[in-house]
Amino acid sequence: MANYLWISGLIVSIILLLLSTPHDPNDSKLLVAFNENGGAYASPRRQRVLLLTAHPDDECMFFAPTLLALTRGRETEKTKTVSAFKSERRSDVYSLCLSSGDADGLGELRKLELERSLDVLGVPQGRRWVLDEPFKDNITIFWDAKVIADHVRSYVLEHEIDIILTFDAHGISSHPNHISLERGTRALLWNAPRKDQTLRAFSLRTTSLLPKYAGFAAPLRAKLELALCSSPFPNIPLTPIVKNFVANCSKKDAVFISGFAEYVTALHAMLAHQSQLVWFRWLYVTASRYMWVNEWEEIKMESEGTSN
Ligand SMILES: *[C@@H]1O[C@H](CO)[C@@H](O)[C@H](O)[C@H]1NC(C)=O
Ligand SMILES: *[C@@H]1O[C@H](CO)[C@@H](O)[C@H](O)[C@H]1NC(C)=O
Ligand SMILES: [Zn+2]
Repeated sequence: MANYLWISGLIVSIILLLLSTPHDPNDSKLLVAFNENGGAYASPRRQRVLLLTAHPDDECMFFAPTLLALTRGRETEKTKTVSAFKSERRSDVYSLCLSSGDADGLGELRKLELERSLDVLGVPQGRRWVLDEPFKDNITIFWDAKVIADHVRSYVLEHEIDIILTFDAHGISSHPNHISLERGTRALLWNAPRKDQTLRAFSLRTTSLLPKYAGFAAPLRAKLELALCSSPFPNIPLTPIVKNFVANCSKKDAVFISGFAEYVTALHAMLAHQSQLVWFRWLYVTASRYMWVNEWEEIKMESEGTSN
């Protein structure tokens, strides 16, 4: 009995330890993109990352693990110490939300909620915008890709954005507004905003239904996958289960995993969206994988490879 307790105590401690530590991908293609400065500008400067969302609350329901990793260590009044300065990120995060989420006539309120949420997530004023026009929050309509590209382009140019982060072609929840953002981003990449700039874009991978609601099993599984994907022994005989785990390694250009602290911060950001906190949202934030894990895949144009 005593042995049994001891062993379960050990297992619980290991799980808690694993859960408590965030993972951010120092060696991922996403951050390589950051660090190489994309070849974009003559003088090295911090990479500018634009999060492109469709509705207020997308930022904390889906993108919090990435936002928190990218804004962590950002210089603030409170952390202007030498050590904080050293850990400072080489990226600045911007946020552009294409609608005010006005489907229920709450647009004005939801814009304020978004401000508070972005305060919590570390995207400062002056780097965040919400559009009232022309995109309407409506679960039945797709937004025109070219119109999206035209709107986003002006922000990319004015603020010299290097990297766009947005939804993938499945839009996490299959919401047509979300799906439209991936298409709009492709349209923008197709007509590169500046000749001397390498604008890159990454999409958040939609996972199949089951892992989507794995709750805190998600970060554990994601860490196991990472460990297997970066295994130095690629040729060890793989059991079918391991094969399944590593099947999609190459499709993930970057993986961000929150720790407890980041998860709690994401919950705080969610609390800013009071008008949206109906019971099933609570279910969502408890069970959703995206509150813990973000996997990114670069959006590439089909013709890429011939141009450089
Ligand atoms: C959403 O769009 C459909 C089709 O255009 C329209 O019938 C409906 O009223 C719109 N809903 C809202 C909330 O605007
Ligand atoms: C790998 O990706 C495919 C398609 O993107 C998906 O259907 C499959 O479930 C993924 N496998 C795992 C283990 O996530
Ligand atoms: Zn949304």
